Amino acid sequence: MRSGSDPAATVAGAGATVASAGSGTAGRACHGTSAITAADLLARARPRIGAREAALLLAEVLGWRRTELLTRDHEVLPPASVAEFDAWVARRAAGEPIAHLLGHREFFGLRLRVNAHVLIPRPETELLVEAALAWLAEPQQSARPEAPAVLDLGTGSGAIAIAIAAQAPTVRVVATDHSAEALAVARDNAQTHLPARPGGPIEFRQGDWYAALTREPSATVAGGAPTPQRFDMIVSNPPYIADGDPHLEQGDLRYEPQGALTDGADGLRALAAIIAGASDWLRDGGVLWLEHGYDQAAAVRALLDAQGFQAVASHRDLAGIERISGGRWHRAAASSSTSGAPPVTR
Ligand SMILES: C[S@@+](CC[C@H](N)C(=O)[O-])C[C@H]1O[C@@H](n2cnc3c(N)ncnc32)[C@H](O)[C@@H]1O
Repeated sequence: MRSGSDPAATVAGAGATVASAGSGTAGRACHGTSAITAADLLARARPRIGAREAALLLAEVLGWRRTELLTRDHEVLPPASVAEFDAWVARRAAGEPIAHLLGHREFFGLRLRVNAHVLIPRPETELLVEAALAWLAEPQQSARPEAPAVLDLGTGSGAIAIAIAAQAPTVRVVATDHSAEALAVARDNAQTHLPARPGGPIEFRQGDWYAALTREPSATVAGGAPTPQRFDMIVSNPPYIADGDPHLEQGDLRYEPQGALTDGADGLRALAAIIAGASDWLRDGGVLWLEHGYDQAAAVRALLDAQGFQAVASHRDLAGIERISGGRWHRAAASSSTSGAPPVTR
């Protein structure tokens, strides 16, 4: 589950007590404008939020590196910084995601801007990026004369598309979302991390899954590069939590867009829609990889098998959970295999 794997989500739960700013446990820190140090602030934050989170917040407030919290821990801090930190601690103790307070989250070595309109990128999604990069690095892909084209459906903050585009600079990347607000964040992140790349900028498009795409040349891409007619790879981390799942009422998930988390149905609706539409947009021999819930791998493999995908497989994340599933699309094989049973490797 998205909730269970986000360390920030587990620290301050829904029932955490909101302590008012300045109600600390460190003696000197209790007296308004008296000399307050980083060590004081971290000590009085600790009963309310985790030590790592307190350090992250204080470093951000002070504009210090984390190591400076140790080397400069007895410096007297400006009252404005003390007030700002205390306010953040109170909000974090009330349950706000730390990524929303900081305004960013690290993903695949990139600091991505996030806000309430996008899913906070999760560490387990890096597995999808790794699978995509491994496939792009295969000799068959690098030997082809044309740069491969990759499609990221439901890009949110742009995490997957930007990580792939940064690591594979010549690959053409198109990223979609139905949320205009999410696409604004993704575009901003792309500008920060990919100011100029040999494969051109990421092409962002708005709409419902494949309906966002067009087979007309796009006017949105600098230089007028035509939108790919078919993709070598489609990746997606769609909403896959079932409607009414209690996790939606817990931790960080309470602050994230519901439309990024749940499909409003059984958790498989968006996954099924993406699998069903993929053959119209994949080139022959192209691949589809999807992130899904901890208990959805078998169902996703069955959907891929039913659509005629070959070499259907799942990969486990660092926790040992089957987290992504995918397969290869071959037109001829799909049209000849009507009763299923394609070769499956797991
Ligand atoms: C789980 S989030 C993933 C965001 C990002 N790719 C990541 O991994 O951090 C799912 C994303 O799909 C988008 N989405 C949901 N339904 C959609 C639809 N019908 N068409 C296009 N995008 C959709 C949401 O707005 C959200 O940004």
